[in-house]
Amino acid sequence: MCGIVAIIGKENACEHVLNGLKKLEYRGYDSAGLAYISDKKMFNVRSVGKLNKLIKVISESKYSKLESSKIAIGHTRWATHGKVNIKNTHPIIYDKKIAVVHNGIIENYEKLKAKSFLKSYNFETTTDTEVIPVLIDSFVSNGKNFFESAKSTLKLMEGAYAFAAIHQDFPNEIFVARNTSPLVIGVGQDFKVVGSDSHSITQLVNQVIYLEDGDYAIIRDKEIEIYDKKDEITNRKIVNVNTDIGVVTKDGYRHFMEKEIFEQPNVLINTISSLLQENDKIDISTQKMGIKKNKSILISAAGTSFYAAVVAKYWIEKIANISVSVELASEYRYRNPSNIGFSSMIVISQSGESIDTLMAMRQAKKLNLKTTAIVNVEGSTIDREADYSIYTRVGPEIGVASTKSFTSQLTVLFLISIKLANENNSINNKDYKNFVRLIKTLPNSLSKCLKINSDIINIAQKIKNTSHTIFLGRGYLYPLALEGALKLKEISYIHAEGFAAGEMKHGPIALIEENLPVIMFLISDGLEDKSISNLQEAVSRGARTILIADKESIAKAKFVNFAIEIPEFEKKFVTTFSPILMAIPAQLLAYHVARERGTDVDQPRNLAKSVTVE
Ligand code: G6P
Repeated sequence: MCGIVAIIGKENACEHVLNGLKKLEYRGYDSAGLAYISDKKMFNVRSVGKLNKLIKVISESKYSKLESSKIAIGHTRWATHGKVNIKNTHPIIYDKKIAVVHNGIIENYEKLKAKSFLKSYNFETTTDTEVIPVLIDSFVSNGKNFFESAKSTLKLMEGAYAFAAIHQDFPNEIFVARNTSPLVIGVGQDFKVVGSDSHSITQLVNQVIYLEDGDYAIIRDKEIEIYDKKDEITNRKIVNVNTDIGVVTKDGYRHFMEKEIFEQPNVLINTISSLLQENDKIDISTQKMGIKKNKSILISAAGTSFYAAVVAKYWIEKIANISVSVELASEYRYRNPSNIGFSSMIVISQSGESIDTLMAMRQAKKLNLKTTAIVNVEGSTIDREADYSIYTRVGPEIGVASTKSFTSQLTVLFLISIKLANENNSINNKDYKNFVRLIKTLPNSLSKCLKINSDIINIAQKIKNTSHTIFLGRGYLYPLALEGALKLKEISYIHAEGFAAGEMKHGPIALIEENLPVIMFLISDGLEDKSISNLQEAVSRGARTILIADKESIAKAKFVNFAIEIPEFEKKFVTTFSPILMAIPAQLLAYHVARERGTDVDQPRNLAKSVTVE
């Protein structure tokens, strides 16, 4: 979702802004631009499409003093209000002198535009953002300085946003503000830099300040003045961050998604080794998580992270005998939930910035639940606000469709499940040790799963021209059916729906028509015959069936059109670990179908990696 980068006090400011924006590309966007001030004059360059296009536009035209400017703001836009076109691309400029880049939504922008004191202004875009530079101009025209004008503007705004503004008559200042959407200030010695996340600015600085909700700041090359929501000057902590991890490259893979699928065995080693001690104890504190006897656990998340939560429900209830409720974050936050029976909430988020998940966590805090975040991005808003954090440690995930985050989240959730089970004696030490032993074999098992790549390519070629698909699974593999369908629709744009196998006859079977691909995840869990019957029912109605399963199940369902066998895993435990193992074929299938169709796999249309607006 929209990315912001701004710099003051550094030569080649525009180039640095572009480099920062490059690092925010993973968030998903549809247009990009930058504005800079040179000799007290505002310049801007914008283009629809990807950053490479913007860079081309810059190199093809002569932009006045672009290299020498020391103040610049830039943006990658993911459209919320107004079509994707040049006019609506940020920076939104007013009167060639005020430029604003903005992430989020100004909920009362229509009301603000209608204010009588803005009567004489013409609005040229259909964005909510434009009201910011217009308001700033109206206050400056009335004699206020830039800082006071931007502050007065801020006080009128409602919604969730982060923005940065510059004014050509005040070329030594950047105004920034944050309310819910993330914003980080990087502290250089003679310069300052602002970014939507720390990753976008750590090529320039290793000290950052995370703004808190309601904070705003005026930034000059050698100073930062931060104010809190009560308008009091405040000192926010300066945090040392890991120096730049460099530009993440595809390392010879065709797409980041492909690379991220294939690096799962390695990243899982990181996840596991960061949480599993040498004595096989798990370095997670269920006390810090706020888990209490006779209390249920709440888990909330969005998208792929939500499906990891559903798997966790099945695991924790079965292995640890503790009841778990899962909640879509976007629903939980608004439905006046009750805290009766709960003492803790776990939120799961790769980015740590999904606004719905953040708000669900805040809601849980209001209800006095202890909050634990399972996050990948350290220092993200959810990480900082949670009472306790557990990191997945998979490194940057660039592909919009989440892959390695999912398997690592599942691994963390499984560790939590057996820790809880061991603590409340639902499993004995022998079982616990057995589970730990198997967790350690997971990276190797995932490597074996990746070997089915060529079989999957074969199937992808067969179904690439379909318009609809159905994914089925039962038990632990029901959430995987949902995830498999989500992956496919996200990146191939093929309509895909996931259902619990047993639900087929309650409606979805009406969708079956000649040649419709029905993809089933299946494992010998004692209920496989029932699922096979569900598949038979689809075959009888003309469906093309694809079975992703273990050897035993495949032997029982010889009638299917295509079968993909997952590598052998210890028989007694294969069902329990099946969601992690089968995540690989689910991801590979979506990837290869999308690649065959030639879509933009890493940045699919309309999607954002980090969803910071509602
Ligand atoms: C977006 C992404 C999904 C992701 C979801 C939750 O919708 O496109 O791939 O699963 O956000 O993201 P989070 O960072 O909170 O895990």
